[in-house]
Amino acid sequence: MNKSFDIGLEQLTGTAGVSMGNSVSTKYAGDGTEAAVPDRLRGTFFLETFGCQMNDHDSEKVAGVLLSRGYRQVESPESASLVLYNTCSIREKAAQKVFSRLGEFRVKQNEGRIIGVLGCVAQQEGEDIFERAPWVSLVCGAASYRKLPELLARVEAGNQRVTGLDTDTDETFETEMTRRDNPWRAYLTIIEGCDKACSYCVVPYTRGPERSRASDAILREVRQLAELGYSEVQLLGQTVNSYKDPTTRGMRFSELLLAVADEPGIRRVRFTTSHPSDFTRDIVDALDAQTKLCNHVHLPVQSGSTRVLRAMQRTYSREEYLEKIALIRSAKRPISITTDIIVGFPGETEEDLRETLSLLDAVQYDGIFSFKYSPRPHTPSLAMSDIISEEEKSRRLAVLQEKQREIQTKKYSALVGETFELLVGGKSRRENQWSGHTSCHRVINFSSQEPALLGKYVQVRVTGATPNCLVGEQAP
Ligand code: 5AD
Ligand code: SF4
Repeated sequence: MNKSFDIGLEQLTGTAGVSMGNSVSTKYAGDGTEAAVPDRLRGTFFLETFGCQMNDHDSEKVAGVLLSRGYRQVESPESASLVLYNTCSIREKAAQKVFSRLGEFRVKQNEGRIIGVLGCVAQQEGEDIFERAPWVSLVCGAASYRKLPELLARVEAGNQRVTGLDTDTDETFETEMTRRDNPWRAYLTIIEGCDKACSYCVVPYTRGPERSRASDAILREVRQLAELGYSEVQLLGQTVNSYKDPTTRGMRFSELLLAVADEPGIRRVRFTTSHPSDFTRDIVDALDAQTKLCNHVHLPVQSGSTRVLRAMQRTYSREEYLEKIALIRSAKRPISITTDIIVGFPGETEEDLRETLSLLDAVQYDGIFSFKYSPRPHTPSLAMSDIISEEEKSRRLAVLQEKQREIQTKKYSALVGETFELLVGGKSRRENQWSGHTSCHRVINFSSQEPALLGKYVQVRVTGATPNCLVGEQAP
C-alpha cells in the first residue's frame, strides 16, 4: 500500500478514532438491571469511525448533530454515556472490527450506556445486530442519517432497538452544524450513494441510490468554509464525477469544480472518487483552466483484464480505461494518477493477472491501493464459482505490489531536486520536522527552522526518496 498518498483509502483496512484498548471498565449487566449512567458521564458521547473518507465526513456531521443537542465529545467509551461506532463493510475484515468492539461489552456491564451502530454494517446487518449484541439500542444506516435527531430522541427517551434502515430516500444528509476534524482541509460530500452495480461491491446496498446535493447549498457551504479559514476543500462521493445538479441551474460536475475554486479564500480543490465511465473531457478542460483544481485524479480500474472487468460489471473495457488515462495525460500540466485494484476476483486467471501487471506498466501510476477480493453479502459476485484460495490471492497481491514498488522507486527518485508547494498539516515530535501535502496529494516530510507552519503554504525541495516516502527541506 502506498503510504505517501494520503487519500484516506488506506483507512479502509485500519481505524480512525480512539481505540478501546484492553482497559475497558464499562459493565453490561445482561439481566436487564442496568445501572444508571453516573452523573459525570451524562450528555457525553464517544464516536469511533472505520472506513473511508465518506465515513470520516459522516462522523463529522454526526458529531455536529450531537454537539448541537448539547452533548460533549469524549475520547474513550468509558467516559461516555453514548457510544457510537460508524462502521465499514467494504471488505469482511473491516466489517468484523465492529463486532469485536461490541463483543467487549458482552462480558461487562454498560452502566446504562447507550450503544449505537451506524454506517454500512448497520445497513448490511440491520436488526440482526440486536440479536448478536442485545446491549445495542440504535442501528442506523448512512442513508437514514437525516433522521438521526429523531432516532436519538427515541433512544434518549428509553426506547430499545431503534432503527433507521431505509435506503429509498432521495435526500442527502444536511446538518446545521458539522464538527470538522481538520482546521485547514475540509471534506464536503456532493453526492451520496451509488447507482453503479459493480458485482463485488456492497456500497449500492449499504448507501442506497445516488443523490446529488444542490449546487447552491454546496457553494454556500464552501463560502462558509473559506470564511472560517479553510483553504482546501475535498469534494466527496463514491462516484463524485457522476454529480448531477438537482436544481434548475443544472451544473455539470466540471462547472461545479470551477465554481468552488472561484470562491474567495479557496486555494485548492480536490475530488474523489472518480468513476472512469463518467470521466469526460470537460473535467480535463477544467483542470487546464484552473490551477486551484489539484493535479491528482484517483481513477479506480479494479482489473487490467477486460474479461474480469466484464464479470465485475465495471462498464468499461481495458482499452476504454486507457483512453481515459490518455485524456488525463493530455492535460497541460502533469496530473498524478492513482487507482484501486482487486486481485483474486472469482475466475481471475494467471493471464488476467498478467494483464493487470501490464496495465501498471502502461499507466505508470503514482500510487495504487490494492485489495484481495472479499465476498460480500447482497452482491452478485457472491454466487460466482471458481473461487480463488486466500493463499493464492495473497500471492497475487504480493506480485502486484512488488510491480508497483518498482514503478514507484523510479518515479519517486526522479522527484529528488524538484520543488513543490505544500499545505503544512503536521508537526513531528522531532524538532523542526513537519509534513504536508502537495497539490498532487503526495505527502512530504520536511525540515524547516520556522516556528509556526501549520496551515500555511510553503515551498519544499525534495532531497530524498524511497518508494513510499519523500523527504525535503523548506526552500528559501
Ligand atoms: N473486495 C475487495 N475489495 C473491494 N473493494 C470494493 N469492494 C471490494 C470487495 N468486495 C475495493 C475497490 C474499491 C475500494 C474502495 O475498495 O477497489 O475501489
Ligand atoms: Fe462500489 Fe462500483 Fe459504486 Fe464504486 S462504483 S461504490 S465500486 S458499486
